[in-house]
Amino acid sequence: MLTNKCIIVGITGGIAAYKIPDLVSKLVKAGADVHVIMTESATHFITPLTLRTISRNPVTTQMFETSGPWDVRHISLADRADLIVVTPATANIIGKVRGGLADDILSTTIMASQAPVIFAPAMNVHMYENSIVQDNIRSLKAYGYHFIEPDSGRLACGYEGKGRLPDVEVIYDNIASFFSTSQDLTDRTFLITAGPTREFIDPIRFITNRSTGKMGYALASAAKQRGARVILVSGPVNIPVPDGVTFIPVQSAGEMFQAVKENYQSADVIIKTAAVADYTPKSTSKTKLKKGDDGLTLELDRTQDILRYLGENKEDRVLVGFAAETDNLIENAQKKIQNKNLDLIVANDVTVPGAGFGADTNIVKFLYRDGHIEEMDKMSKGDVAHCILDRVINLNR
Ligand code: CTP
Repeated sequence: MLTNKCIIVGITGGIAAYKIPDLVSKLVKAGADVHVIMTESATHFITPLTLRTISRNPVTTQMFETSGPWDVRHISLADRADLIVVTPATANIIGKVRGGLADDILSTTIMASQAPVIFAPAMNVHMYENSIVQDNIRSLKAYGYHFIEPDSGRLACGYEGKGRLPDVEVIYDNIASFFSTSQDLTDRTFLITAGPTREFIDPIRFITNRSTGKMGYALASAAKQRGARVILVSGPVNIPVPDGVTFIPVQSAGEMFQAVKENYQSADVIIKTAAVADYTPKSTSKTKLKKGDDGLTLELDRTQDILRYLGENKEDRVLVGFAAETDNLIENAQKKIQNKNLDLIVANDVTVPGAGFGADTNIVKFLYRDGHIEEMDKMSKGDVAHCILDRVINLNR
């Protein structure tokens, strides 16, 4: 997908600059021709030598250096670029581009280029939330510039809040999606479930699990990019809803079942990524339960197995399930294919580092009804999503 694409990676002065060699390395491995431009401030956080070595190309830091007698660097790069990614993007570079300023090699290259530009902002939470910065972002979006939302969490400056550079895998997926032009799902409707469910014990306590929704959201976003109509039914998660999908937020397994029942008939393909609770409290207290001196025994009922229901009612729809296991992966996943009448199951061993809950990568096996198994390498969840869609197309022909 990225082979021979000319990508300019612009690094500005933020502590998250230390993550960028990893991003550049992934882009180079994927076949991209990566040219790094660093602002003066960025060079205080990381050296041009590191990026030159990893990108295997000269790194530009100065406005007035030339790479050859007839070559004006910011014009030659600006013309060749298929995409410019500014990461980490400080409030300063965002403000400069919004204001049309071109006073260093990076801002000048952005101004001089017709390539699409993605900003991945990273900064102190108060800076990010500053109305001027937000106004600049809104305005740049209106001009057609793209943004990757920062993550929330503990920031290098010691504050908690929004402003962390997203993981390199997420930035990589955003870049890869720019070049995935294939619109092979335009006439299909996908119903995708994602995230955990919450089974309430009382108004403030619930039973849940470690699912973060990343795999389901990656699938929704990949299917949307490839032209599908996407209905995303999701338990509570902390990631933005992909643009253009029909979003149905739910909390409990019961609500998820209801939403699925109301929507599955319009779908050609159903992918059940959600980690649905298998048990729910027999009763939910309307008021907060008060503790006593003794232990507490909770009585739980089985929830509806939504996937099994779909298996019984699927007709000619393609039905894909997930199996997150800690042992006997293949055997357990094979049972689920048969019991739930699936066309494909995506199985992963959640005890392996880089697979499963919360990770940005996954290591999966595809198991088919006829017993055939495909073992995949470790990939970003975005790449896993595209691999699943590639297989679904073949099953849905
Ligand atoms: N699933 C569902 N409804 C449930 C439980 C699970 O639709 N009430 C779906 C999940 O979305 C996933 C697959 O079933 O696609 C997981 O299979 P499941 O057998 O439920 O796995 P576990 O919950 O891990 O169960 P087990 O204890 O049998 O391993």
